[in-house]
Amino acid sequence: MNSSEASLYSKNRRMMEAGYRMYLHKYMSINDNDKILDFGCGTGELVYRLSKEAKLAFGFDKSKEMIEFARQIHKATNVSYEIADISNCLETHPHWKGKFSKIVSAYVLHWVKNKRQVFQNIYDCLSEGGECFILYVGPNNQLRGNNDDELPYYLKNHIKWKHHLKGYENKYYSLTLKENVSLLKSVGFGEVKGHLHTPCDEHDIFSKDELRGCVSSLVDQIEYVPEQYRSEILQDATEWCFKNFPVNSRGNKYIRHDTLVLLAKKN
Ligand SMILES: C[S@@+](CC[C@H](N)C(=O)[O-])C[C@H]1O[C@@H](n2cnc3c(N)ncnc32)[C@H](O)[C@@H]1O
Repeated sequence: MNSSEASLYSKNRRMMEAGYRMYLHKYMSINDNDKILDFGCGTGELVYRLSKEAKLAFGFDKSKEMIEFARQIHKATNVSYEIADISNCLETHPHWKGKFSKIVSAYVLHWVKNKRQVFQNIYDCLSEGGECFILYVGPNNQLRGNNDDELPYYLKNHIKWKHHLKGYENKYYSLTLKENVSLLKSVGFGEVKGHLHTPCDEHDIFSKDELRGCVSSLVDQIEYVPEQYRSEILQDATEWCFKNFPVNSRGNKYIRHDTLVLLAKKN
């Protein structure tokens, strides 16, 4: 991801915004004493928003470009951002242990295979009585699945891209609701609630530009082709999505996918 892609991502986050709007405050309340940490904050919109309701808000992401963008655009006196990985953040930032009353993580966990380690890190960063809100993309996802009506199938059989994608490994990892709940309990969380919202048709896409922004952050096949062809594969993927995405009751295209929402409390 380069800085112009971070900016494109930030401009085209309607899908993420719809997710927060629908679920965050339904599951978690924030108060002015809260210290919040966002696991995988991207360009910082959620951190910035929550900082207005909380005492302090931190966000971290493994992408330097996302963090640079967040630092520049979403700054406030009680906000800070770091580069870190959700899988080993306590090794790089041990002082985060037990420091936060609320943790959020939105649209990140489907990229991580070892969710147990991430859940353990979330648990360890929370103070006693702290809560975490996790939202990520569930098992059914038209951009990431392997069925013949899903994007990976189109790309891996495309005359221009199949050669480059021979070694492609689908790094999309989703668990069922039951598996998530049981993993969260196994790392120590006392109370765990969750829901699988399926299929989510609220994520309206109003323009091809917006769609291109979503595709650029969700389609990791792009990294498998040489630099000079990346905008071409992004364009092909965007055109496929534009043609194949369904239309919702408002007459807009939307990404067909499930959403997993989880709330867990450290007793
Ligand atoms: C779809 S974006 C979501 C960003 C933000 N949470 C939001 O709601 O807009 C996914 C983000 O996860 C980050 N990410 C993926 N794997 C990560 C990891 N192992 N550690 C930290 N961040 C990660 C990516 O760099 C990207 O910024």
